Amino acid sequence: MAERLHIGVIGCGKIAQVRHIPEYVANPNAKLIGFFDRSAERADEVATRYNALAYGSWQELVADPGIDAVSICVANASHAEIAIGALQAGKHVLLEKPMATTLEDCEAVVAAADAAGKLLMLGHNQRFTKAHKLARDLVTSGAIGRLVTFRTTFGHGGPETWSIDPGSNTWFFNPQLTTMGAIGDLGVHKTDLLHFLTGERVVAVSALLASNDKLDAQGTPIAVDDNAVALYTLSNGAIGTMMASWSFHGAEDNSTVLYGQDGIIEIYTDPDYQVKLIRPGQPVEQFSVEAIQTNDNQTTSGVIDAFVAAVLTGVSSPVSGTEALAAMRAIFACMESSRTGRVVTIDKNKI
Ligand SMILES: NC(=O)c1ccc[n+]([C@@H]2O[C@H](COP(=O)([O-])OP(=O)(O)OC[C@H]3O[C@@H](n4cnc5c(N)ncnc54)[C@H](O)[C@@H]3O)[C@@H](O)[C@H]2O)c1
Repeated sequence: MAERLHIGVIGCGKIAQVRHIPEYVANPNAKLIGFFDRSAERADEVATRYNALAYGSWQELVADPGIDAVSICVANASHAEIAIGALQAGKHVLLEKPMATTLEDCEAVVAAADAAGKLLMLGHNQRFTKAHKLARDLVTSGAIGRLVTFRTTFGHGGPETWSIDPGSNTWFFNPQLTTMGAIGDLGVHKTDLLHFLTGERVVAVSALLASNDKLDAQGTPIAVDDNAVALYTLSNGAIGTMMASWSFHGAEDNSTVLYGQDGIIEIYTDPDYQVKLIRPGQPVEQFSVEAIQTNDNQTTSGVIDAFVAAVLTGVSSPVSGTEALAAMRAIFACMESSRTGRVVTIDKNKI
């Protein structure tokens, strides 16, 4: 292993350009070696900008012995194939969410990391915000007692203005390239976050997914969900809601509220105080830790630094495939519940 981690980036779109690439550049222990994108022009342009190589295929990139690790930032449908190929080629992998578009593929990605003995990390950046870390510490310290109920929400105006290829033709609306809509794009963030904050797992799901806002390039409702509402039961018996939406026009909502037997933790309900601890008979404790990250306010995620540090120091993955798989099980359960109208239980998430 080189002293600095030598990096390849596969998929050079928005998340690569606003998060992965600049955070590797800012990390003294990482060096960008090369790029691949199915748009050769885009890969060339980024490679020139960062004085690095542009490869002709992802297979060529992962076959380069000069690369130790890759970031995979492509459309969802290609996550599993490229992640498995990179792991089999002996690379450490930082894979964007959602992990893959079928449960079988998610399991295959985890198995490939185990077989290769390489580090697999998922890009669940919500775990790394100061507010979420503080909230988790408060939960762990017993500040609100046993968690009873919760609500968590992630909504914005939709990915068609975010993507590097904007417009109603976006891959985010194409079921062949994404499989799941807001539930996989935003719902997986909040599901993983619930696991992170509470230490519990989603074990039963009842959900409604709808396509009732966005139109595709032909002017017909998109074939993936743009709105999703789920009722979750956690492994400790707590029940609550998870909402994922591409229809919050005009303002994002990234909030979570946890209600315990001894008090309440509010996260991102107030732009000035990102965490609040509210307990009966006591003054409200308000914490100002950092501005809320939004699509228009991208701050350093910490994901890339954690990935680089974990590989170089040989510690376990900061967001392992196994942990991400637990969240993906809940996402697939939401899709099944909405399709069948039934409550779906997730035995493998019982702890
Ligand atoms: N963690 C987060 O908060 C977060 C935020 C946004 C996006 N993402 C994820 O990152 C991934 C990329 O999203 P984005 O917002 O950058 O999209 P984007 O549309 O801006 O860019 C996608 C890029 O990938 C390229 N691409 C697509 N499929 C490819 C393939 N099979 N091989 C090579 N290149 C391919 C496209 O040409 C484009 O340059 C998605 O999986 C998305 O869910 C994560």
